[in-house]
Amino acid sequence: MQSEAWITGTGCYVPERVLTNADLERMVDTSDEWIISRTGIKRRHLVAEGQATSDMGEQASKRALEAAGLTALELDLILVGTVTPDMVLPSTAALLQERLGAEKAAINDIVAACAGFIYGVATARAFVMSGMCKNVLVVGAETLSSITNYHDRNTCVLFGDGAGAAIVSARPGPAKILSACLRGDGRQWQDLQIPAGGSLSRLTPSDLENGSRFIHMNGSEVFKYAVRGMTESSEKALSDAGLKASDIKLFIPHQANVRIMEAVAKRLELSPDQVFNNIEEYGNTSSASVPIGLDEARRQGRIRPGDVVVLSAFGAGFCWGSAVLQF
Ligand code: ACO
Repeated sequence: MQSEAWITGTGCYVPERVLTNADLERMVDTSDEWIISRTGIKRRHLVAEGQATSDMGEQASKRALEAAGLTALELDLILVGTVTPDMVLPSTAALLQERLGAEKAAINDIVAACAGFIYGVATARAFVMSGMCKNVLVVGAETLSSITNYHDRNTCVLFGDGAGAAIVSARPGPAKILSACLRGDGRQWQDLQIPAGGSLSRLTPSDLENGSRFIHMNGSEVFKYAVRGMTESSEKALSDAGLKASDIKLFIPHQANVRIMEAVAKRLELSPDQVFNNIEEYGNTSSASVPIGLDEARRQGRIRPGDVVVLSAFGAGFCWGSAVLQF
């Protein structure tokens, strides 16, 4: 048995193409002022034509491997958190394994929506601590533009594309994973869903017209549960690590809405400079937002040795969770 798991490298990739609030004003009945005041979002990045989730995941993964000083052949497991896989079958982890040449790795996708990366880190940590794996690649990668209805102003202003990755290893690295807390509440599944295209409601020609193959969201319910879920799972993960909210140096929440982030920060009694925020530039990139934030925070020098960093996310299911890292 291995008693510890570490993050030994991180990486991210965001596509170049930008969709601004001014662009959206030309597409739906909205305004730059409404979007910024209600969400904090100014821009989001979208994939180029032909670019898919695995393409972004590949770039983020290569950067994480390089940062960890590992080759792809040293990976034992690849976990990809995504709700926008390249295709329904096989997993995006399979495509990524081929692309990276990670021939010895087991492969699996994690469907935990915006919490996909946290679920991946917690799963990777468990595999490492059980002794089954030495190095696990955890990816959060999403092409949300492929499931967004650009005629629905309630949702299309929120989402962007991107990918982030981390290597979870048995050997020591920059950050020890002190604890992780995962939660879910399937009673709320209807509040955030894509109604058509699964086995319950098979895709019909009319679904292409009526928007039911895109994200449908009860925004106010998501908002309420997200604030409570991210706060409570952060407190639980901190207490499991023998820490308190006052020990947090940097909080890296899922970038869903700046008002959700502010409400969670207020409950944890964190000041604005303790909360990582890049929502203005990328919008909500679902499972990619936390690993993009973690990688950017490291590269911006916002994390120093000894710092306690909490990752937290909430998404469809509902499912949510938090992880505590010590650098
Ligand atoms: N521009 C202008 N007006 C708009 C827009 C828009 N883009 N979108 C909605 N409105 C309107 C609504 O139609 C409504 O008008 P009405 O009162 O005439 O009916 C009004 O604005 C207020 O709508 P609310 O829903 O009350 O606005 P709210 O302040 O709650 O903000 C938002 C909406 C931004 C969606 C918010 O609820 C939110 O962020 N929720 C959480 C979303 C989230 O975290 N999603 C993550 C899940 S993604 C995943 O899992 C893949």
